[in-house]
Amino acid sequence: MIDNKELAAVSKVIKSKRLSEFVGKFSKNFYGGKNVKKFEKNLQNYFKVKHAITVNSWTSGLICCVGATGVKPGDEAIVTSWTMSATVISLLHWNVIPVFVDIDQNTFNIDPKKIEKKINPRTKLIVVADIFGNPANYKEILKIAKKNKLKVISDAAQAPGIKYNNKFAGTMADIGGISLNYHKHIQTGEGGVVFTNNNELAEKVKMLRNHGENIVSSKNDKFLNNMLGFNFRMNEIEAAIGIEQLKKLKKILKKKQSLSIKLSKNLKNLKGLKIPVTKNFNNHAFYIYPLVLDTNIIKTNRSKILKILRNKFKKKIFIEGYQNIHQLKIFKKKKCYGNTNFPWSLNKSINYSYAHGTLPVAEKLHDKTFIGILMCKYDLNNKDIDKMLNAFKQTWKKISFSEG
Ligand SMILES: Cc1ncc(COP(=O)(O)O)c(C=O)c1O
Repeated sequence: MIDNKELAAVSKVIKSKRLSEFVGKFSKNFYGGKNVKKFEKNLQNYFKVKHAITVNSWTSGLICCVGATGVKPGDEAIVTSWTMSATVISLLHWNVIPVFVDIDQNTFNIDPKKIEKKINPRTKLIVVADIFGNPANYKEILKIAKKNKLKVISDAAQAPGIKYNNKFAGTMADIGGISLNYHKHIQTGEGGVVFTNNNELAEKVKMLRNHGENIVSSKNDKFLNNMLGFNFRMNEIEAAIGIEQLKKLKKILKKKQSLSIKLSKNLKNLKGLKIPVTKNFNNHAFYIYPLVLDTNIIKTNRSKILKILRNKFKKKIFIEGYQNIHQLKIFKKKKCYGNTNFPWSLNKSINYSYAHGTLPVAEKLHDKTFIGILMCKYDLNNKDIDKMLNAFKQTWKKISFSEG
């Protein structure tokens, strides 16, 4: 939702002629300009977290999170397979090996029951994504991490402003964050925010964000080490937009949630269709509204159902399956082309096959039964939902069911 508020904020920055105020050497502006600092302060207050660090994308944020934890080449990270590729690829930038764990069939998040089996002495991290805007099972995940002395990174890209046990998604792990790309509930075009309550991790992220190597000799503090950095800085225009967007987050979430309640109330009556298992709709951002076909009851295959549905509701809003990151080609090849620093090309003796393997729950959902509704992509209203519900009803008249 971009309107005159963002326009006025951007115009003010342009008139000031200071489109970014970052400098890559140790000074007050090492930490960014006026709008960047204000946005970060507002984020800290809103998300009730000690540090909110803006970056030019959440992919950059994830790379900083992994780097700040101090992982070494050949270390392993437990990671969910149902996420956007950046959650996993951020590990490869540090030569950390992703070890995929299957998802829970009801929440589509990493299944905590399957994590411990994959932990070994090389495991250093658990990377969790709050997929579709639904927080993962942090109670269990944090317990496992504590017991095994692992750090947890929380990818709450799709769940900005959602609470779990009274804490905001992205703020419960050692480090985490949200995306501000233009598909998200609030956006700055491109952008992201890293959250942490840990001073050391925060300072390392700030060094990684802004050419940390340049300031090692001039910055005298206890986190001083040989940091190498990037340019992952957010500019003043994006930060000014972010300040306005943050004010709208609550309202945007409420709208998505109320439309999703309406969807659930009506779709639950359709035979063989499983609606989201959500006890409290306030705890879900509905970036995507998830549905599952019960193939014991429904005999028509998913592609056919979607063909009928798409014919009756014309917006490109339905997705067939999600993403099985473990099946990306990059994890299937023995040799990696491109970045020769990947652990399996550095050290041929590493048995990378445990990095993928089969994940039956994720694969069945992706290949056969999952349908997603892209709630975030469209600014839907009640009338749109009525039309969509009608399309579902008409479609269900045309599909076949098992007898009995
Ligand atoms: C779960 C998840 N992680 C990471 C990202 C990457 O965020 P960005 O596009 O801001 O780099 C996204 C973006 O869609 C995402 O959905």
